Amino acid sequence: MDKIENIPRHIAIVMDGNGRWARAKRRPRFMGHKKGVDAVREIVRECGALKIECLTLFAFSSENWKRPEEEIKNLMGLFMLALDREAKSMARNNVQLQIIGDLSFFSEKLQKKIKQVEELTAHCNGLRLIVAANYGGRWDITETTKALAKKVASGEMDADLISEEDISAQLTTAGLPDPDLFIRTGGEVRISNFLIWQMAYAELYFTDVLWPDFDKDELHKAIRNYSSRQRRFGKTSEQVIADKAMTSN
Ligand code: IPE
Ligand code: IPE
Ligand code: MG
Repeated sequence: MDKIENIPRHIAIVMDGNGRWARAKRRPRFMGHKKGVDAVREIVRECGALKIECLTLFAFSSENWKRPEEEIKNLMGLFMLALDREAKSMARNNVQLQIIGDLSFFSEKLQKKIKQVEELTAHCNGLRLIVAANYGGRWDITETTKALAKKVASGEMDADLISEEDISAQLTTAGLPDPDLFIRTGGEVRISNFLIWQMAYAELYFTDVLWPDFDKDELHKAIRNYSSRQRRFGKTSEQVIADKAMTSN
């Protein structure tokens, strides 16, 4: 990719369209998920090469339990397999893995594997790869509310002084910059309860490309599109231009 300015620090992706990819090829949905793992590998590698700081991937939503039992079983199996197979190469490529979501719903075996891979890559200081599994934005905020309420009840915190930063610091994404660029593949134009608090000011990018077909060229397209936008955060366009001139001097 040619050198581009304004590379996002944090990209968050809803990897959608695996099922339709498989259906179009008259193959079982599971094949789409399997191909989806290949796309994950390519995108993770490319984000590392582009020096993106954080990549958050939505792998399984808190709503996805509503799917047929067979598909859930297949997805869990695939998750386990991918963790197993990719762990060493993540560590080798300096990728730090973190899983966010309510992991208590997963089997003991899968929970153990997650912990193992997180520990194996904990020392890595390259790309931070965050995989959202059994994740829901509302769940994250609800858990945060409970934790803060407990702190208030115990006297550790003053309710009137709770700030936006306190909330951010209590979410599962504590310590990460908010996503700059949100990408959703698969043609749907919705957030589906992803990082709803954290994405308050993210730039949104939707593409019809199905996740198994989302490759590094598609990623470059999304990043280029992002870098051509002016992020104003409430200011006027003129103010943003003036601010930029000041900082580049
Ligand atoms: C996204 O692909 C993967 C998961 C939700 C696990 P889908 O399985 O939702 O694919 P479509 O939307 O049916 O094509
Ligand atoms: C969102 O995809 C969650 C993941 C990609 C893991 P879905 O395909 O489940 O989203 P909805 O329910 O159609 O919005
Ligand atoms: Mg879908």
